[in-house]
Amino acid sequence: MRTLVTGGCGFIGSNLIRELLSLEDIVSVVNLDALTYSGNPKNLIDINDIRYSFIHGSINDKDLLSEILKDSKIEVVLHLAAESHVDRSIHSCSPFIKTNIDGTRVVLESILERRNSGQKVSLVHVSTDEVYGSLSPEEPEFTEDSQIRPRNPYAVTKASSDLLVQAFVNTYELEAVITRCSNNYGPFQFPEKLIPLITINSLEDRKLPVYGDGKQIRDWIHVKDHCRGIIDAAKGLKSGKVDSGDVINFGASNEKTNIEIVNTILSILDKPINLIQYVKDRPGHDRRYAMGYEKAKSLLGWEPEIDWEGGIKETVRWYVDNSVWVSEIKSGEYLNWIEKHY
Ligand code: NAD
Ligand code: DAU
Repeated sequence: MRTLVTGGCGFIGSNLIRELLSLEDIVSVVNLDALTYSGNPKNLIDINDIRYSFIHGSINDKDLLSEILKDSKIEVVLHLAAESHVDRSIHSCSPFIKTNIDGTRVVLESILERRNSGQKVSLVHVSTDEVYGSLSPEEPEFTEDSQIRPRNPYAVTKASSDLLVQAFVNTYELEAVITRCSNNYGPFQFPEKLIPLITINSLEDRKLPVYGDGKQIRDWIHVKDHCRGIIDAAKGLKSGKVDSGDVINFGASNEKTNIEIVNTILSILDKPINLIQYVKDRPGHDRRYAMGYEKAKSLLGWEPEIDWEGGIKETVRWYVDNSVWVSEIKSGEYLNWIEKHY
């Protein structure tokens, strides 16, 4: 496959590019990234593979996208570029509308334009469990048939982009699959998100901000398992195992409360629990997410492989061992955010 990854310098995108380049049947990987605050070219600095190229630019730039699709003979677009942090979307949702909705519109129109010129290009649209809204403790996990009920500005922009993709499949017969995944953890995650934030603050003996009562639940999956799923979905679409317009959920049956996560990190790092500080809750905070992934199992033969106990230890260790990466990120925009938000 000749692939274009959008948002390849972010957390999941950079892990995905590593995964793609580990596969022999991947002919090329073009990474288009606007290098916003969460996009870091150093996430891929060690990549030395003639199949890989980086283009600094935005998915909102239609001419650029069309040119890349054409000149690099792209067959599959793996679309990850987005504004991804819920708390930032609560402070201001305008960049989320621009990138997540309008940017996806440009991706779709560019693919359609190429398709109409005779080039076959398919799309994997990488979405999230947040589009399904929030579960109570007793409710069954989300399935692909669950109703879409996004409850925060970020989730609304992701749900809107999903609907736009489905509209292009239905109206113009564009070839696309939508993947929805639960919370990812692993290396290279920007430390505004819970696991790297708590790890890095713990290492510096700083306060650990836990929103509300800390009993909100997320279903944590290792980023490598998610990336394998994205690639399986792309191959499934190509081979016909997956129908165009299908939604596929990925999860790990690994539900944890936030306070459990914080305690686990403290225990791995052998730090005291008195670092924990309960702070004001996130407005409209979703209580629980849990993803059923039976469809991914039956259609793609996909299952999560990395167990939580090993995965979280290895992840915490990665942030300890990569102190230069951490210290370079913790400047400028990161400090502004921490100052403004906490
Ligand atoms: P991230 O914030 O780490 O990375 C986003 C990347 O997109 C950055 O490299 C950024 O520079 C780039 N980007 C932003 N605007 C762009 C634009 N206009 N043009 C080109 N590039 C642009 O986010 P992430 O956690 O890696 O998430 C990636 C995708 O996966 C998102 O679509 C997100 O909604 C989805 N997702 C994330 C999770 C998770 O737990 N992190 C779970 C499910 C789905
Ligand atoms: O569920 C998938 C989603 O997971 C992705 O679509 C998003 O892109 C990704 O950011 C993530 O969203 P969350 O809001 O679930 O992740 P975050 O790491 O921001 O928060 C995880 C939980 O921890 C959430 O319940 C809020 C809580 N939290 C977070 C931060 C940053 C705290 O208690 N304190 C904090 O300081």
